[in-house]
Amino acid sequence: MSSLRFKLNTPLNPHAPETSKLEELQKSFLETINREDIGFYHLTNKGHFIDKTLNVCEKIKHKKNFIQIGIGGSALGPQLLVSSLSKSKDKNFYLIDNTDSDYISDILDGIDIQDSIFYVVSKSGGTAETIAGFITVRNLLLAKGISESNIGEFFIFCTDPENGQLRKYVNQHQYTSLEIPSNIGGRFSILTPVGLLPAAFMGVNIKELYEGANEIKQEIENTSLDENSLFLLSEKILSLKESLPQTVFMPYSSKLKDLSAWFIQLWAESLGKNGKGLTPIPAYGATDQHSQMQLFMEGPNDKLIMLLHLENKNENYSLDGFDELESAKKLSSYSMNELLEAEFLGTLKALAENSRNVIDIRMETLNERNLAKILMFLQCLTVTVGISMNINPFDQPGVEKGKIYAFEYLNSLRK
Ligand code: PA5
Repeated sequence: MSSLRFKLNTPLNPHAPETSKLEELQKSFLETINREDIGFYHLTNKGHFIDKTLNVCEKIKHKKNFIQIGIGGSALGPQLLVSSLSKSKDKNFYLIDNTDSDYISDILDGIDIQDSIFYVVSKSGGTAETIAGFITVRNLLLAKGISESNIGEFFIFCTDPENGQLRKYVNQHQYTSLEIPSNIGGRFSILTPVGLLPAAFMGVNIKELYEGANEIKQEIENTSLDENSLFLLSEKILSLKESLPQTVFMPYSSKLKDLSAWFIQLWAESLGKNGKGLTPIPAYGATDQHSQMQLFMEGPNDKLIMLLHLENKNENYSLDGFDELESAKKLSSYSMNELLEAEFLGTLKALAENSRNVIDIRMETLNERNLAKILMFLQCLTVTVGISMNINPFDQPGVEKGKIYAFEYLNSLRK
C-alpha cells in the first residue's frame, strides 16, 4: 500500500499464511462492512456530511474558541484530528472530556465566553459525563447574564438523528445540530461530524480526509490477498493472540501521540469482551524509549509491537553549531529528523535482535489523506480481528454496566 506501508517481523510465527485463511478473513470482513447496521466503512463514499459540516462551520467561523464536550469516541477522535493536523494560530480548541471540576474551570476561566462555541457530542444522548459538562456550561452562561432564549446561540449539538433524549431536546428547541448516523458507534465516529466539525473549525481540510479514507478502501478492496496488508496483518495478530496478548502502538511522532490514545480505545473497547481481548499499550517515540522501551525490549515477550515512522516532516533543525560537549560533537553533522529516524531504526534492529514481534508501519507524510488512511485501516483491522475472535467489535456492554451503576450510586446518596 503506497503512502502507508506495513512490514511484519514476527519471529514467533514467521510463516506466510495459507490463502484459504486469508480468503476466510476477507469474506467475513466484506460481509460485516456491508451489513445495514454497520456504517463506518461506507460513510466516506458520499460527501453529504462534509457539506453539512462546512455549512455549520461557516456560521461559527467568526468565533475564536471551540470547546467540545464529549467523552470516549466523542472526544478522542476530535482531539487527534486537531492535534495532528491543525496549524491554526488564531483559533483554540478545548476538550471537556471529564467530570473534573478543576480541569473544567481551568478551561472556562481562560476563555472569552462571547467568543466561544460549545459543541455537545453524545451518540446515545444521555452520557452522564457529557450531560454534566453541558449543564455546567449552560449554568455558567446563565450566570453571565445570557438569557434562556439566546443560550442556543452558544451551542451546537451532535447526536443520533432520531433516537435519544438529547435529540428530542435539540429538536424541541430547534437548536443547531449535526448527526452521528445511527449505524456508527462512538469509537468508529471520527470521520462523522463528531470529528469533522472541530477539524474544519481548526483549519483541517475535511474533504481530503474523505479522499484518503476512500483511497485506502480502494487498496483494501483491490490488492491481491498475498499482498493485502489488512488481511495479512489480521491473520498474524490472530495466530499470535495467545502468545502475544498485548499490543503496543508507538508512532515516532509527537504530533501522532493522540493516534495512540485513539487506537487504544478502539482496540480495547472493541476487542475486550467475553473474557477475550488484546491489551493495548499506548506509547510514542522517541520519548517512550526512555520510559517503556526497556519493558518492550527485555520484559516478557508477550507484546506485538506496532511502530510507526513518519518518513517526511514539514520542519527540520540542523544540529550543527555547538561542539563544547562530546555528545553535541557527535550530532553536529546531522539533523533532528535524521536523529529521530536513527532512533526508530535503532530500536527496530534491537527489537529484532531480541526476537520481539514487530509490525513496522511507514507513513510518507503527515497530512489529511495519510492520517485518514491509517484511521480507516485501523478500524478495518479492529473489525476483522474482532469478528474472527467471535466477538461483537461494535458494542461495549461492560461500559454500559458501569454507567448504570454510577447512577445507582448517585440515587443512593439522597435516600
Ligand atoms: O465507543 C463508544 O461507543 C463509547 O466509547 C462512547 O463513545 C462513549 O461511551 C460516549 O458515548 P456517547 O457518545 O453516547 O455519549
